[in-house]
Amino acid sequence: MVDETPKRVRTRHFRRAKESGIKITGLTSYDQLTASIFDQAGIDFLLVGDSAGNNVLGYDTTLPVTVDDLIPLTRAVAGAVKRAFVVADMPFGSYETGPDEALHTAFRFMKETQAHAVKLEGGVRSAEQIRRIVSAGIPVMAHIGFTPQSEHGLGGHIIQGRGAQAEQLLADAHAVEDAGAFAVVLEMVPSETAKRVTAELRIPTISVGAGPHTDGQLLVWTDWAGLTAGRIPKFVKQYANLREVLSDAAAAYISDVGAGEYPAPEHEYTD
Ligand code: KIV
Repeated sequence: MVDETPKRVRTRHFRRAKESGIKITGLTSYDQLTASIFDQAGIDFLLVGDSAGNNVLGYDTTLPVTVDDLIPLTRAVAGAVKRAFVVADMPFGSYETGPDEALHTAFRFMKETQAHAVKLEGGVRSAEQIRRIVSAGIPVMAHIGFTPQSEHGLGGHIIQGRGAQAEQLLADAHAVEDAGAFAVVLEMVPSETAKRVTAELRIPTISVGAGPHTDGQLLVWTDWAGLTAGRIPKFVKQYANLREVLSDAAAAYISDVGAGEYPAPEHEYTD
């Protein structure tokens, strides 16, 4: 939203950005330090994603992540920002049984963390949950395409919305819009399908690996900053190499301490 500088980003700014063709920017964040850095840099929204499972909590997938895991992380992020809109991710097993469970989880995030919205996965299958949360006055960001909480059901990290699957993706997109979502994340979707969804919806679309034609972009910050070990998805552009920076710093520290070069006189207290 480079042309618009609200004191606090709100859902109406997402809508206006789409209407005026201004791109929306988002990153994940799981702690107060990165949240305040990204907020001061001018990021529009921060997602406290259940990707904390892979990035903070040491799990292989997002499936074991619980509401209790995400509450303190979300509170830290929401407390650190001045301008950015903070979205709390509803983890696997916290909304699927129905609208009542979904609303209960959304209430917890809103009351215990000061987040500004919640996100949940699923299109048609989650529409009733979205409707109920929105009717209680809580903004919902929807998430369709590849939905990591269903990775076993989907058969792995597979691009969604290819060929004939595009119609299902469109049905999911319309279902979440009709249910009242203020924005929708499209994850790992072919660019042309994402372009069609973006043209058909009134609410903004946010790409995570869905190409350049959406209304905004979102990346997992540890991938984006080069902190993640191993393979990162094709759609990620690395804007830094923090893994190398931290690894070099750790090696230099170990070497300095071993050589008696740290602490030096300037690091010592005197009488
Ligand atoms: O948890 C997360 O980080 C997410 C994004 C990848 C959309 O859901």
